[in-house]
Amino acid sequence: MRLDRFLCELNQGTRSEVKELIRRGAVTVNGLPAGDPAARVNEETDCVSVRGKKLIYRKFFYYMLNKPAGLISATRDRVSATVMELLRPEHRRPDLFPAGRLDRDTEGFLLLTNDGGLAHRLLSPGKHVDKMYRVSVEHELSPEDLRHLEEGVDIGEDRLTLPAKVLQQEERVILLTLHEGKFHQVKRMLEAVNNKVTALKRISFGGLPLDETLQPGDYRELTEDEVKKLYGT
Ligand code: URA
Repeated sequence: MRLDRFLCELNQGTRSEVKELIRRGAVTVNGLPAGDPAARVNEETDCVSVRGKKLIYRKFFYYMLNKPAGLISATRDRVSATVMELLRPEHRRPDLFPAGRLDRDTEGFLLLTNDGGLAHRLLSPGKHVDKMYRVSVEHELSPEDLRHLEEGVDIGEDRLTLPAKVLQQEERVILLTLHEGKFHQVKRMLEAVNNKVTALKRISFGGLPLDETLQPGDYRELTEDEVKKLYGT
């Protein structure tokens, strides 16, 4: 790829800023000062440095965010603050996006990535990736409600919801594992058993548990193993 594009992809500045870096002699390729922004570099084999610091090329980025309530899961919005605003400047990239959606008032695991292929795999309706939610409800659920939620309920779609796993945690708190992701699914499922969600947090996604050390609004990169696990789901 072109040297200026390589530098932009590694967050070294805008196209004009990296051109200026090259012009000022701050960039070397395999130890030699680079002069041409259009020069071709091989991202796997060439050694590109900026002010003596070697850049490691990466194509894809993966962040586990503990989404706080109050932000919307979108890359941009004309009115509301989005989850992308939680990224520190050094992690911002125009190609990052939330893989999937949590409602504005939902907290928990949201994957931010620029890997469109993985996002597609995880979100495609036929894929049935596991998502576990901690659901607080208005009224205690009866054994019959729990059974209905597990077996499938009518949320106004063509068919009942797919079988789910339900675990009662406290009197008015359940852990609900879904293998599909319809719009507002958890809230609609609880409405289907005449209840109401009072708080919702996604605590696991694609087999990865939310890192308990992440406070709402914090994020961290996924480890290589975690990325592999998502690919394996
Ligand atoms: N189900 C919902 O109702 N809301 C979410 O944010 C996620 C799942």
